[in-house]
Amino acid sequence: MERTFVMIKPDGVQRGLIGEILSRFERKGFKVVAAKFIQVSPTLAEAHYDEHKERPFFDELVSFITSSPVFAFVLEGQDVVRVVREMMGATDPLKAQPGTIRGDYGRSIGMNLIHGSDSLESAEREINLWFEKHEFVTYDRTLESWM
Ligand code: RTP
Ligand code: MG
Repeated sequence: MERTFVMIKPDGVQRGLIGEILSRFERKGFKVVAAKFIQVSPTLAEAHYDEHKERPFFDELVSFITSSPVFAFVLEGQDVVRVVREMMGATDPLKAQPGTIRGDYGRSIGMNLIHGSDSLESAEREINLWFEKHEFVTYDRTLESWM
């Protein structure tokens, strides 16, 4: 089954939106298989945003993501990488559709509330970067056959 890495960024945590955002994915039917609330180190932040290291906003990105705790989790489900990206909305919240997380709650590109892996390859890399094997929980959901 496909998995993706999701992170509620410092602005989402500070604004009290952890529950709101997580509940959207729960109600969609995606399964939470790992989760943690952490203060991100500069080393982890730099590794996470490695693809952007040459971009002018890289330092800003790293200092923002390390400025306050984040809520990180892994979701499992069919097509979960693509569907989570669609539920997040466009990178710039001012361009994101209403009904998406960024479209409903965000106002600035720097503080766009949430991160989600953008491909299967990124998902695998990010899951391995953020979580260790023992942090995954294996369980069955009795509602599975209804979804
Ligand atoms: P993310 O990686 O956080 O899920 O967001 P994304 O895929 O939608 O956007 P990406 O292109 O990967 O950019 C990563 C984060 O960098 C910030 N950004 N700032 N100032 C700018 O022009 C600019 N462009 C991107 C955003 O916070 C974006 O989420
Ligand atoms: Mg990205």
